[in-house]
Formats: sequence, structure tokens, C-alpha cells
Amino acid sequence: MALTSSEASLLVQDALTGRLPDQRIPDQGLGGLVASDLIRNELLLDGSARLNLATFVTTWMPPMGAELMADTADKNMIDKDEYPQTAAIEARCVNILADLWHAEEGPATGTSTTGSSEAAMLGGMALKWRWRERMRAAGKPTDKPNLVMGANVQVCWEKFCRYWEVEPRLVPMEGDRFHLTAPEAVEHCDENTIGVVAILGSTFDGSYEPVKEISEALDNLAATGGPEVPIHVDAASGGFIAPFVQPDLEWDFQVPRVQSINASGHKYGLVYPGVGWAIWRNKEALPEDLVFNVNYLGGSMPTFALNFSRPGSEVIAQYFIFLSLGRNGFEVVQQASSNVAQRIAHEIGGMGPFRLLTDGSELPVFACALNADVKNYTVFDVSAALRERGWLVPAYTFPENRQDLSVLRVVVRAGMSEDMADLFLNDLRAVTEKFEALDEPMPRLTEDRQGFKH
Ligand SMILES: Cc1ncc(COP(=O)(O)O)c(C=O)c1O
Repeated sequence: MALTSSEASLLVQDALTGRLPDQRIPDQGLGGLVASDLIRNELLLDGSARLNLATFVTTWMPPMGAELMADTADKNMIDKDEYPQTAAIEARCVNILADLWHAEEGPATGTSTTGSSEAAMLGGMALKWRWRERMRAAGKPTDKPNLVMGANVQVCWEKFCRYWEVEPRLVPMEGDRFHLTAPEAVEHCDENTIGVVAILGSTFDGSYEPVKEISEALDNLAATGGPEVPIHVDAASGGFIAPFVQPDLEWDFQVPRVQSINASGHKYGLVYPGVGWAIWRNKEALPEDLVFNVNYLGGSMPTFALNFSRPGSEVIAQYFIFLSLGRNGFEVVQQASSNVAQRIAHEIGGMGPFRLLTDGSELPVFACALNADVKNYTVFDVSAALRERGWLVPAYTFPENRQDLSVLRVVVRAGMSEDMADLFLNDLRAVTEKFEALDEPMPRLTEDRQGFKH
């Protein structure tokens, strides 16, 4: 039953002076206008997405793309029979990415996902299945699979290992080595290794792991009687950066051991959350019994995903981005982010108290620490002070073995203009000058410093 306007305003008053329901559905609905107003008010407390230098995820899309997403919000990606053109658009995106990442000739093998985490699960499962086939064929036990990766992996890989009962072999950081390198990768492999995960680039500092070197070191291992170990590249961010900013870098299917790649369409793929991609080098790299066939337009559409229903609009938006930017537009947009990141990094490096760990020349992302002689404040203080101006810049400690190291990380994405970079640098300079003038240490912050999730 519709509310009279006086009933509605009483409810609004109640809601404004009291509390919004957070335990049970309200007995009386507020109506769409009032409910949306109250929710919008509450969301004012969220940080501003455009000032969020913490996230890798897209916070700005061209309005036309956002409109297209809103217009296609009713499409379910799994309804391939009912929405055959959405399915066709997904297949085109898979072809485009397979081509961009130099997959083998022939039909492209891949799928859209809800993000890189789901894509990582799929890539990891394919590795596990193929390892098990190899071991069974050799009459060997299959109860102790392991996956080799740097301790800098994103949490999705630890999840993969726990959910699919694979031992995570996390190679610790050591000194100034903040990611996986070839010798350490090989050292941790044995015949139970389902694969090595190489990251392009690391969530901690934006650096690229040396995929080609890791592959060559694994070639040597195999040539000297060791196991054949495949590589999965977690290119959550780099999959949409390297082809445009470092086109000569060999990190993808040009490297023979790379069997599968994941990337987040909603990171440098420039689409709002959540879309990701998993692509295999060829049909053989994806075991057939992981694929379910759905009848589609009289044909058979292979699906390999953890979810059944999920939005089609993100996939449509990904195709929009491919069409509207083209290769040339991607080069311009990603190079601009790279330039902004490198300029901010360079200026921060010159401010005095900061030491750069990376400089934004791989991903448009960098991390910096405070010099050892800075005693009166920490990166956590800098992060908190920047937040007062609206900038969200995470401070966090590195993992095991380098927990002594605390850094600030800046992620530059499309939408961070040179002007915004100046505003950010001005604010950071002001904060730093204030802290540098302190005569005694700041009181230590009590927040949970382990709370930041990569
Ligand atoms: C290297 C890497 N892998 C995986 C992920 C997880 O990606 P998603 O948020 O798309 O699930 C991230 C997210 O930051 C990442 O940086």
C-alpha cells in the first residue's frame, strides 16, 4: 500500500533521528525515493573513489560506458541462450585478449569471470588437473600438490591453495628482493609442483616478476632431469598495461611455459567492478572435464566458471572499452597513467624523507618508505594525515622476513590527471613539512596495521 506523504515524512523523520534497520527487514517500506535518499546520505561517509590511490580498481569510466552498463544491468551472463549477443560479445573479448597476449593460433580458450580472484581459481584448477593427469600417467601419487609463488602474492592464491588443498610454497622476500625471481622459483619446485605463479605486477610495489627468466630457469630444471613445471601469470593489473606501455616485454604466451593468464577487466581493463578474464594458451591447456557445455544457439557454448549467474553488463562494458579506445587509445591512456605515476614517484623521491622502492615504470604503481633517520613519524602518520585531505593512500608492512619495512603505496589510474597529481603532491609536501618540523615523535597510532588487505 502506498504511503501518504505525511506518513512518509514521519518515517523519514524516524529514520533520520533514529536508526536505519540493520537487523530485520522493516515492517513498513519507505518507498523508493526516501530509501534511496537515506542510503545516498549514508554513503557520503565512504571515501571519494577518485581520491582513492589505494585501489587498483577502476573509479572512472567515460559517462557513455557507465550509461551502457546501466542500460544492460538486466543481462545475466549465464543466459547465453536468451542473450546470445552478450555471449557473442564475451567471446569477442576472449579472442581480443588471446590475440593481445599472443595465445596460439586456433580458437581462443578463455572466459570472463567476476574478477582476477575467480580467474586465478580457474587457472589454478587447470594446473592441478593437468598435474594430476601427468602423475597418474606416470603411476605416481597425487596427494601432495604444491604451488610455487612469491610471498607477495595476492590473497586469492592463498585462498586457491586452501580451497583446493594445494600446499602453498611461498618464497619469502629477502633483503631488497621483494618478489619472486628465477633461482628461488626453481629451488622450490619438485615433481609435486602443479605450477609457478608469476605476477605482473606485484600488489605490494607494482614491480613485474621476471616471467621469461623464470621460464628459462624452469627449462634448465627440466633439461637436467627435473620436472616439467608450467607457469600461470597473474597479470591482474599488468595484463592491460604491459601490452601498451612495455610492448617489447615478453611475459605472456610468447613465453613457452606460460599456460594461462588472468587479468582484471575492472583494474587497468578500465571497467567498473567486477569483471576479470582467464585465458589459456590453447585448448589443451584447459582440461576438458573442467568445462561444462551449455547449449547456445544450436551450438555448444563451453563454460568454465565458479558462479552461475553474474552480470553481463561488465563484459559489455569491456567490449565498449576495446571498441572505443582501440589499441592506440589504450596506449595513450595507459602511458598517461604511467607518466603521472613516474612523475609523482620522482617528486616524492626528491622530497627528502622518502625512499622509493619502485618508481612507477612497470605498473603505474609505486611504493616508498621513510628513510631510516626519520624518527618522529611513520608512514602510518603520513597516510592518516593525507586522509584528512581526502586522499586514500594505504600504509602497510611487508610480509614475513621484511616485516620491518613499512611503506606507502600509490596506484595511479585513468582519471588521475597531471593537475590532480599536483594537488596530491602539494598536500603531501604540506604534511611532510609539518611532520619534519616536529621536535618529538608523534604518539603512535593504535590502528591495526595488519588490517590492509592486498
Ligand atoms: C596481483 C593480483 N592478483 C589478484 C588480485 C585479485 O583481483 P580481483 O580483485 O580482480 O579479484 C589482485 C587485486 O589487487 C592483484 O593485484
